[in-house]
Amino acid sequence: DGIRRRDFLDVAAIGAAGVGGLAVVYPLVSQMAPSKDVLAASTTEVDVSAIQPGQAIKAVFRKQPLFVRRLTPAEVAEANSAPLSAMRDPQTLEERTKEGHNDMLVTMGVCTHLGCVPLGAAEGEVKGEFGGYFCPCHGSHYDTAGRIRKGPAPTNLEVPEYEFTSDTVIQVG
Ligand code: FES
Repeated sequence: DGIRRRDFLDVAAIGAAGVGGLAVVYPLVSQMAPSKDVLAASTTEVDVSAIQPGQAIKAVFRKQPLFVRRLTPAEVAEANSAPLSAMRDPQTLEERTKEGHNDMLVTMGVCTHLGCVPLGAAEGEVKGEFGGYFCPCHGSHYDTAGRIRKGPAPTNLEVPEYEFTSDTVIQVG
């Protein structure tokens, strides 16, 4: 009985540490985060050559998830035909991608509502009602250009600074 109780306490202590840890991690991280200069200098290279139309990959940029997605012609057409007037954060696909690479959508994988990682980048994940990404935390639906179309998120998925350093490699940051 004594031993059981002790096991329980250990588990409870771990649980409490986990929860407490989460609560304090954020302020600590922001205080300890590298200065803007250091962050600004950090870049991520992503080889996009293996991404097939309709596929996406997840990478990491400045410690946050990054989605790189190659749109199918149908997804490009869908993004281009969607009425901007119906959008909360109106932007064209052209504005959100690079010239000559309008089918390559590079966004942060961070919901602009409260920061969850949306679904839709990995094989088999739901993509939401607009065929892009779906945030399961509170139901934000993003379209094939990563624009918010339904749900609480205030803005489109962020497009980070990036450039193509060759036809198959992008440098983010
Ligand atoms: Fe994505 Fe709330 S964090 S909908």
